[in-house]
Amino acid sequence: MTIISNNIEKAVEMLNQEELVAIPTETVYGLAGNIYSEIAIRKIFEMKNRPLFNPLIVHIHSIHQLDELVSYLPNKAQLLANAFWPGPLTLVLKKKSSVPDIITAGKDSVAIRMPNHPIALALLRQLNFPLAAPSANPFGCISPTKAIHVEEYFGDTLQMVLDGGNCENGIESTIIGFEEDEPVLYRLGAISIEDIENRIGEVKIKNKKEVSPDAPGMLLKHYAPLTDTYLETNVEERIQSFPNKKIGLLLFSKEINAAGITHQEILSKNADFKEAAANLYAALHLLDKLKLDVIIAEKLPDIGLGKSINDRLERATKK
Ligand code: TXA
Ligand code: MG
Repeated sequence: MTIISNNIEKAVEMLNQEELVAIPTETVYGLAGNIYSEIAIRKIFEMKNRPLFNPLIVHIHSIHQLDELVSYLPNKAQLLANAFWPGPLTLVLKKKSSVPDIITAGKDSVAIRMPNHPIALALLRQLNFPLAAPSANPFGCISPTKAIHVEEYFGDTLQMVLDGGNCENGIESTIIGFEEDEPVLYRLGAISIEDIENRIGEVKIKNKKEVSPDAPGMLLKHYAPLTDTYLETNVEERIQSFPNKKIGLLLFSKEINAAGITHQEILSKNADFKEAAANLYAALHLLDKLKLDVIIAEKLPDIGLGKSINDRLERATKK
């Protein structure tokens, strides 16, 4: 039986014993373990079926913990940390040798973030080590935004999900690295590029695999439902190409009036990107359970968080 509870003391006890606990964050649930326990970290890779070349994000509760992990902090990294931590921003920084190689897949940089979730922060404060936590889904699958999603994925192989309710942001953190002190975006995410550029000026975009061997694990196909899924600007036209099929729709703000649609999920009736992001993965999880023949997702306007959502939908629908 997986324990699903908000008992932080129990989670502390398990993490101190080199066990894994799935933890809530404001982006998605993470599968967490002590960064200094090789036993725990190996369990993370095994349980997710994740290749060892794909490095993990280290979660901290205080900016002072950077001293223990990082050998150099570019000015613009400091500005971003001040502006967005705690929050859905991951910084890739030069690591100290004390950070185990298995965390960073042998790279000389480490990805770090301070999650903005009261339960995650309370947990981290009670531990005397940071937590490595990739999203709590099997490799390549849709990320979990509710405790129940995690339980459905791992069942009895996972002992505990620390329940923190629905994830407020709903998509993963934005990842920023540095080349000669200048910022590079490795992954679109819950903070828009526009918001980042407002703070530190222009950011180089390298979130596609072809141009970014620097962020291993940014796979073209990822976050994918098991059902055959398509991403379209003109959903109505696409529906016509699937006569006599059980079709599910994932739409931004408005329902579509068409015959033969089995189910429609609306991400935000108010056409609000933030709300759409928060609902994205839960809607995909739900559609994927309906035994449909196809899911057709609508492409969002390509600005702000719309860009981040489109990035996830592109990876979810990659053939
Ligand atoms: O919102 C999030 O970031 C969530 C929550 C749980 O914090 N975590 C998450 O982790 O999305 P994960 O493992 O699914 O994605 C981590 C990605 C890797 O695939 C890789 O692209 C990048 O972070 N990464 C990690 N360490 C890196 C490094 N040293 N250099 C470049 N990229 C790195
Ligand atoms: Mg992930």
